[in-house]
Amino acid sequence: MKIVGVSLGTRNGSNDSMCKEALIAAQEMGAEVSFIHLLDWDIKDCTGCVACSRSLVMGKGNVCTRKDEFDDFRSQLLDADGVLVVDPIFEKGASGLFHTLMDRFGPRADRGMNVVATKICEEHGGKPIDPRLLKDKVISFIGIGGSDWATAIEYDHTMLAISPAWKVIDNEKFAWSKNIIMEDEKVERVREIGRNLAKAAADIEHAEYMGKPGVCPHCHCKNFYLDPESTHATCMTCGIEGDLVIEDGKFKFVFPEEQLSHAHDTLSGKFIHADDIKENEGKAIENRKSQKFKDSQARIASFNIPEILPPAKRECVK
Ligand SMILES: Cc1cc2nc3c(=O)[nH]c(=O)nc-3n(C[C@H](O)[C@H](O)[C@H](O)COP(=O)(O)O)c2cc1C
Repeated sequence: MKIVGVSLGTRNGSNDSMCKEALIAAQEMGAEVSFIHLLDWDIKDCTGCVACSRSLVMGKGNVCTRKDEFDDFRSQLLDADGVLVVDPIFEKGASGLFHTLMDRFGPRADRGMNVVATKICEEHGGKPIDPRLLKDKVISFIGIGGSDWATAIEYDHTMLAISPAWKVIDNEKFAWSKNIIMEDEKVERVREIGRNLAKAAADIEHAEYMGKPGVCPHCHCKNFYLDPESTHATCMTCGIEGDLVIEDGKFKFVFPEEQLSHAHDTLSGKFIHADDIKENEGKAIENRKSQKFKDSQARIASFNIPEILPPAKRECVK
């Protein structure tokens, strides 16, 4: 069973160190482990060209227009049974590099989209999808911060697992942890996360969440989008809509059973999303042919707003 650990911190810093602690603990459980220091890799930002979602729903395969080392990185993860991501907390949430990963995973790694694309390919021909994109996998996250500014980190991290529908085993954050390598209790928790991941990766079919309880009983999220006029709340991770109520002095998130079929981390929820994207992309392509769209574009193009170009593209003015 293979586990790959990915650190998004500085070379030999806290994130690298804790990633290696967890990996060694997983190795002691029998896992074959490997380590990636992601800052050394050429991973470019997503441009938002939507070639990935369009190609998937048109049976043209799983493409990305960016040319860098992302596909090799993704391939390393797709070959593993379990993935561990250790990420520095920036601005209360995940690092910018982690957000780039989320975007690059995005529609392209979405399990629902890839199932739809595989069906299209089987029924009508076309470019086949990498079967590794349809496989179950387990993933754990660790966020490490230098203060207690950390309220978005667990939410950010689970979003990476939503797209490929990988099972989250642990989702831990360590606040005030600049010197985590000297804090035995925290290091032991990190090692436990490594062991949990190894156990889960050995039996992915029966793998269960092993982290601390959250408020959403479905996905364990603690972040909600609240309606200021009522108790109505939407779970920020899985998108389930319900009410946040207080029971025995604690928050409880209650929702109608049927909401589960819409949850963004379930295959049924993903199919709803894939259908929405297919419909909306189709409408967007049609709308672009209309006179109103062309007139609007021409109007905006006529605006007299000077553009400040990046220094390398500026003409040399003497
Ligand atoms: C741009 C930036 C933003 C940061 N924001 C936070 C923050 O919001 N909360 C926090 O606890 N730590 C924050 N930190 C501290 C980092 O999380 C900490 O330096 C990092 O985990 C060290 O990791 P490394 O030793 O693996 O490089 C920030 C650091 C930087 C550079």
